[in-house]
Amino acid sequence: MITNRYHFEMIDSTNKKAKELAIEGCPHGTLVTADAQAAGIGRRGREWSSEKGAGIYMSMVLRPEIDADKAHMLTLVAAMAVETAIKKLGGECGASIEPMIKWPNDIVINKKKICGILTELVLKGREIDFVIVGIGINVNNKSFPEEIAQTASSLYRELGQQADKELLISETWKQFTVYYEQFLQTADISLFKEEYEDALVNKGKQVKVLDPLGEYIGIARGITDIGELIVDTEGKIKYVSGGEVSVRGIYGYV
Ligand code: BTN
Repeated sequence: MITNRYHFEMIDSTNKKAKELAIEGCPHGTLVTADAQAAGIGRRGREWSSEKGAGIYMSMVLRPEIDADKAHMLTLVAAMAVETAIKKLGGECGASIEPMIKWPNDIVINKKKICGILTELVLKGREIDFVIVGIGINVNNKSFPEEIAQTASSLYRELGQQADKELLISETWKQFTVYYEQFLQTADISLFKEEYEDALVNKGKQVKVLDPLGEYIGIARGITDIGELIVDTEGKIKYVSGGEVSVRGIYGYV
């Protein structure tokens, strides 16, 4: 499905570059990668630490023919793809590794974040013009800045060996294509919901929902066909959708 690939030694942000290329009319399936980002963008306006050569910084340009209100699910498609790709490559090199998904789209190993995904939607009127799915994976990082050292890790730190970034990029693309096709069939995530739930680190655990309208605690039961987190608060079920809401374990990040 990769139609074009642009690689940079250094760029401000692969998401920003992908957006520029999309505005210029690049086709669906364009991939932008970089060895380093000077201004990697994280969710909620945070910075994404993008040390040279250590991580994967990749952004895909998508032009899905779906309603705009369904685009948020692409983030779960990408999480499924990265989780599967890491598990597959880890298994092939004989490593015992258990990547999991922290809802909606962080990949964690041993409760530490090793991948973040930033999905950006650009509309033309009410229709989708394009979607950028940006994926940052901590691959061969040996250490992290102090602010994130408690919650972030890398494949190298968890596996104890260096991983091949190119192989992981192409496996992630391959897996993305698989789950993307399933998503397009139903315009929801029902076809891989069970697989997602099997990888969901929050499932059956207490979570703190940081809703701007008021925080609350409950047990995460799973997800719905449209990717909402099902949270059981003393018998009352709440359906949490992404956006402004974020979820934590009650004692920390997971
Ligand atoms: C998060 O905050 O969890 C999302 C992080 C997404 C980072 C990736 S790195 C590649 C792409 N380019 C960016 O500037 N951001 C995304």
